[in-house]
Amino acid sequence: MNTHDIIKKTVYYVKNLHAADHGGHDWSHIERVFNLATTIAQAEGADIFVVQMAALLHDIEDPKLRRCPNQTYNKNINYLMTLGITADQIVAISIAIDEVSFSKNKDKKPSSLESCVVQDADRLDAIGAIGIARCFAYGGSKGRAIYDSRDLVKVSTSENQSTHKPESSIYHFYEKLLLVRDHMNTRTGKDLAFGRHAFLEKFLDQFFQEWNGKL
Ligand code: NI
Repeated sequence: MNTHDIIKKTVYYVKNLHAADHGGHDWSHIERVFNLATTIAQAEGADIFVVQMAALLHDIEDPKLRRCPNQTYNKNINYLMTLGITADQIVAISIAIDEVSFSKNKDKKPSSLESCVVQDADRLDAIGAIGIARCFAYGGSKGRAIYDSRDLVKVSTSENQSTHKPESSIYHFYEKLLLVRDHMNTRTGKDLAFGRHAFLEKFLDQFFQEWNGKL
């Protein structure tokens, strides 16, 4: 099989695996990460095939469902071994998949350019207009409020902070989304994150003005 056919086969394989997922990791997320990773890989001179394969396979199994940390790694290797690609390619793709996770690798620099590219693409999908839509869709699926005005009050200035556990979707902006821009790896990723981050801030500004009846 040539690389074009392998990508096509993998798209089919992954699409089926994600068919039942309508949370934040449905097929459309994979497709956006694939397209974004391709754009970044071209600009950064990364190995396009390795990047595209890792982008397609990066969310095959939700990390929370793994019984052991290497389960997905092994599952992906088993699939990759059926494709007739080189051992070096299998290793490069597997490492890139394993290094994507935001929470697991927050302050750890990925070990290859291809890992950097896929991680940037996955993180970019968590911010900007798409990130906002995903954040509220996910919060809604968990029964969380859009916003709770106790969420952003500093601990020292409020008594009820000790009992209130912030978990609204707006709180998630401060807990994760607004931090993403400063954790990008590549120049291209940083440039794209800049515009998406500005959009988050613009959204929050308008949101709070409306929330407080000012607009
Ligand atoms: Ni993802």
